[in-house]
Amino acid sequence: MAFACGKVLLLGEHAVVYGEPALAAGLSVGVTANATPGPARLSAPAWSVDVTAADGSRVGAAFAALLEALPVPAATVILDAAVPAGAGLGSSAAMAIATARALAELAGSPLDDDVLFEAGMASERVFHGTPSGLDHAVAMHGGLTRFVRAKNGGRPDRTAVALPSALHLVVAQAAPGADTGAMVAGVAERRVADPVVARSIPAIGDLTRAAMAAAERGDIAALADAMNHNHVLLQRIGVSTAALDDAVQRARDAGALAAKLTGAGGGGCIVALLDGPSDAVVDALTPTCQFVLDAHVGTP
Ligand code: PMV
Repeated sequence: MAFACGKVLLLGEHAVVYGEPALAAGLSVGVTANATPGPARLSAPAWSVDVTAADGSRVGAAFAALLEALPVPAATVILDAAVPAGAGLGSSAAMAIATARALAELAGSPLDDDVLFEAGMASERVFHGTPSGLDHAVAMHGGLTRFVRAKNGGRPDRTAVALPSALHLVVAQAAPGADTGAMVAGVAERRVADPVVARSIPAIGDLTRAAMAAAERGDIAALADAMNHNHVLLQRIGVSTAALDDAVQRARDAGALAAKLTGAGGGGCIVALLDGPSDAVVDALTPTCQFVLDAHVGTP
């Protein structure tokens, strides 16, 4: 059995497009893979996926790209996926990393990190064209990651953010995910037209820097404060929706220290930060959300 983490952005989405840092968390919930000898086949019953590397499907093409990049033989892989697909939680990256690890486990030859990362990149290219590499770096390593986008074709900057104590999170899908490209394009238009939007981008960067410093010194209250303010700025740049705002409010009313939309917005997920495991927040979100994950920041 091999595991890879799902991902959630704690702060910095959209501003990261303009060179500001983002803070991502690897979830204790993700994708578990089991490989057995047999034909090259990939199944994920939770996502209604059952493909071969040659069937012409997109998941099949990603599987083929992964197999080609791996120095171990193909096999039959069954995935237990605990994150929803297409909700901005890094499902495709967790799929690639868990699959690669399961195949390596079956072959009895552990993969070196660079090989695993490049194989993840090959698979992610099939889904995302020019992926930043953030999702599968988080899927591989878990924990908290500071991420700054690559400048002028260079390498993105990814650094681990030390976390002195566990962070308890609840992630909930408030509505179907919107198209990330369209959401990013909308912010780009509003940023030119509206000085309030333009000013919000560096302000999100400042909050993200403050949040990383707070996380490193174990100051959960300051981290929560930064996340709550980040949601206000995401509303200001026009990427929140009534369903996301409602879920954020429900989580806070049920006792979450912080709650904000996570990812591209326009639909999709919220993330709530709690001061310990709490059924109240899960119960408050369950009636209106399609998916509620009770998680902590985890490692594979
Ligand atoms: O929803 P996700 O996890 O794909 O995140 C999108 C994050 C954005 O900052 C909105 C876009 C990007 O490419 O960084």
